[in-house]
Parts: sequence; structure tokens; C-alpha cells
Amino acid sequence: MEHKGFTLWFTGLSGSGKSALADLIARDLKKRGMKVERLDGDIVRQSLTSDLGFSEEDRIRNIERVTFVAKLLTRNGVAVLASFISPYNKIREYSRKEIGDYILVYVKCSLEECMKRDPKGLYKKALAGEIKQFTGIDHPFEEPDNPDIIVETDKQSIEESKEIILKALEQMGYLPNNN
Ligand code: ADX
Repeated sequence: MEHKGFTLWFTGLSGSGKSALADLIARDLKKRGMKVERLDGDIVRQSLTSDLGFSEEDRIRNIERVTFVAKLLTRNGVAVLASFISPYNKIREYSRKEIGDYILVYVKCSLEECMKRDPKGLYKKALAGEIKQFTGIDHPFEEPDNPDIIVETDKQSIEESKEIILKALEQMGYLPNNN
């Protein structure tokens, strides 16, 4: 069924659950017959932005390029699920302005819990000083000023978070009606 394009943008700390949640929702939207694309930091940084590191300047460039792609897909009726730390309010607002149909999801999870999960062993390395400019350790994460949706993955199950997001999308008119 034809549907309006949009970008569901997940922001949050490394290990907060952005990718897992975006993957889960992608599967759900596909089942509804929607055209879906995923853009994920770990993957995009191996191709489109493989020349970039994690300085403020490079993170901004990373998000600018991804925003360009998300904008093209969105205006062609695709449901884009983008998962990037995207740690600054300024760059999030840039994406919102560029993309238009942009829904910001703050995947909220305490730094303590993210460090406990440490799914890629990166917090350990950052604490040992082996990785520099690591978000939450020696690089900032600004809490979103203007999120459309907040999920709390250290308090809710991933299924609960998924339902909150789907319900919000439905209320905003982004999901086709007959389920
Ligand atoms: S962003 O800040 O530019 O939005 P992005 O989401 O693309 O970041 O990439 C984050 C991923 O890169 C993390 O999930 C982690 O796997 C990896 N990574 C490697 N070094 C760092 C670092 N210094 N800070 C944060 N993430 C890092």
C-alpha cells in the first residue's frame, strides 16, 4: 500500500538499544507492506562515511551525509529508520529541517546501564584510554531538547518500547490504516 515517507531517527548512547529497536520496527513495518530502509552508524561508517572519525566536526559530517540520503528516501515514500548516536541538538535540528517528515526518538538509557551492557566492549576500552572521544566518557551526549518520542530501555522491555513507537507513528498518521 502507498504510504507517506518519513524518517524515524533514533538518538542515544552507544549500547542504549537504538539498532535493536530500529531493526525490530523495520521488520514490523515491512510486514505491513511498507517500503523500509535502515541506516545505521556502524554500517554507514564502513562505507559512506568510512573516512570519518569521532571528533565533533566528523560526527557532524557523518550526520549531514546520512541526512542527505534519508531526505532522498523520505521524499520517495520510504520509511527510513536511522540509528546514530547523533549527540548534538544542533545537528538533530538540522536533520529535522532538511528531512521534514522527521520523528526523533530518544532511546534513553543511563550511562551506567550502557556501560554494564557494553555489547561491543567499547566502554571498557574507552575507560582504559584505548579509544578517545568516546560518547559518555570523554565526549558529550546532549540530551535531546525536542524529542517526539522517548523510550526508556533500562526500564521497559524492547517490545514495550516498540509498541510505544508504533502507537505514536499511528497517531501521527504515518502508518497505513488497515494495519
Ligand atoms: S555519531 O556520533 O557520529 O552519530 P555513530 O552512530 O555514527 O556516531 O557511530 C557510533 C558507533 O561507532 C558506536 O556504536 C560504536 O560502535 C562506534 N564507535 C567507535 N568509536 C566511537 C567513539 N569514540 N564514540 C562513539 N562511538 C564510537
